[in-house]
Amino acid sequence: MSVPFDQMDGQIWYNGEFVDWKDAKVHVLTHGLHYASAVFEGERAYGGAIFKLREHTERLIESGRILGFTIPYSADEIDAACNGLLERQGFQDAYVRPIAWRGSESMGVAAQKNRINLAIAIWQWPSYFDPEQRMKGIRLDIAEYRRPDPRTAPSRSKAAGLYMICTISKHAAEAKGYADALMLDWRGQVAEATGANVFFVKDGAIHTPTPDCFLDGITRRTVIELAKRRGLEVNVRAIQPEELSGFTEAFLCGTAAEVTPIAEIGPYRFTPGEITRMLVDDYMAEVQPKRMAAE
Ligand SMILES: Cc1ncc(COP(=O)(O)O)c(C=O)c1O
Repeated sequence: MSVPFDQMDGQIWYNGEFVDWKDAKVHVLTHGLHYASAVFEGERAYGGAIFKLREHTERLIESGRILGFTIPYSADEIDAACNGLLERQGFQDAYVRPIAWRGSESMGVAAQKNRINLAIAIWQWPSYFDPEQRMKGIRLDIAEYRRPDPRTAPSRSKAAGLYMICTISKHAAEAKGYADALMLDWRGQVAEATGANVFFVKDGAIHTPTPDCFLDGITRRTVIELAKRRGLEVNVRAIQPEELSGFTEAFLCGTAAEVTPIAEIGPYRFTPGEITRMLVDDYMAEVQPKRMAAE
């Protein structure tokens, strides 16, 4: 059995200090645990550099702001903490998880005076999906839960509470033998997977849903830029589930998932093709740290 996440070796950055991994604990009476007043990020380091670190840090700070709290560190301090920890952990390629949460000073829905904590953990997380299956295309179920109306939940934040329906949906999909689930939104339009954004290809053009009620992924924005660099037409628009039968290729993208081809979504079939493969390769090239020409 693999080592549980609270028993791994190394250090965690916890409220300004590097502490031993096993000592980075919270009390059971923590507001973030009871009321989901927590926001987090998922970042990846490649070749010793965290890809788009500042964008992730800014989204973390903004996620906290949306939940009504101010993370008590500047973006420069958070970036330095992530980079410092990566160096201490000694990894070149790794996953970086900053999390901010309301502490234990009071217990109840209102928590105006609770401390805002910040911790950062870094570990090695190779492939989000089974590497064997990945390039053949993964199989997705269609989830029962839908991404909520932005008037119902703070959908622009990467808030822990929003992942409740993702875990339920992913577990339900896995129980049926699927790798993940595609979620529709509150209107019934195609939204995203449980931890990644979704793209489609038709007649050489790219189509992806408008992120008006789900996370506008940093990988998503990178892939759009890469596709445009290749001269591909990119259509960001509302996509109806009935349209899935008309797309030839489909893929997921996210920090953890990177670019992952899709073979099935419910009754619909896709063949990972030239455009998907090109974007898989372009993304892997893009995330590598840029070396100075003189080096
Ligand atoms: C629900 C959800 N959507 C989309 C994404 C992709 O976001 P990003 O590319 O910024 O990692 C993630 C990954 O964190 C996610 O959890």
